Amino acid sequence: MKKIIIAIDGPAASGKSTTAKLVAAQLGYLHIDTGAMYRAMALKVLRNNISSNDVQKIAELAGKTSVRLVSNGGYVKVVLDGEEVSEEIRMPEVTNSVSPVSTVSEVRRLMVIEQQTMGKEGGIVLEGRDIGTVVFPNAELKIFMVADEHERAVRRMKELELKGVTIPVKELEKEILERDKIDSERAVSPLRKAHDAIELDTTNLSIEQQVEFIVAKAKKIIAKS
Ligand code: DC
Repeated sequence: MKKIIIAIDGPAASGKSTTAKLVAAQLGYLHIDTGAMYRAMALKVLRNNISSNDVQKIAELAGKTSVRLVSNGGYVKVVLDGEEVSEEIRMPEVTNSVSPVSTVSEVRRLMVIEQQTMGKEGGIVLEGRDIGTVVFPNAELKIFMVADEHERAVRRMKELELKGVTIPVKELEKEILERDKIDSERAVSPLRKAHDAIELDTTNLSIEQQVEFIVAKAKKIIAKS
């Protein structure tokens, strides 16, 4: 049976990660969270006390950095220069600096090469901002997930609370809108819906409904190919 590529793009906190992970599990596919790679790079920038707006220094640092996603059974580890950083990249300091770091074209060039290498055999669900437009424009199934910003902020708040971090929903909503603005207005590979992507508004959907929708579409494509 053919192993397809599923691209899931969309703005911050639109539910991509949870959904992509479950879709991959149901199909027996690998899940690649490309945002985690940009987060690992942003963590390295922070650790080196480089401003997240210093394009030149970030580009140089990227050339000396290894970011890998390593599959470990059902779990994918984020490895920065040989060190696992899966938890650290979710901290608010990283979240607040990742968007500017991800605008640096050299960073994107290196990450995209790595993503294309991981996905070339198919049997993969990649989530990010530019998967359907740049990384795999020929992906057999493209989903563009959206949700209203208040709902996205509430979801992010609950996720952080589980980790013992409390941030007011209004503040999260502001941060999410700022990231959306940087992500969609940047010059290189901005966040946008691919012309052949299916838009899925998750504001009023449960995770199960989102997963079911995508898995059903994927199974149809797999059966036909
Ligand atoms: O999905 P996320 O929120 O963890 O992503 C973190 C940041 O990385 C996001 O602000 C934009 C950037 N990103 C990107 O530019 N391209 C991708 N394919 C994935 C993420």
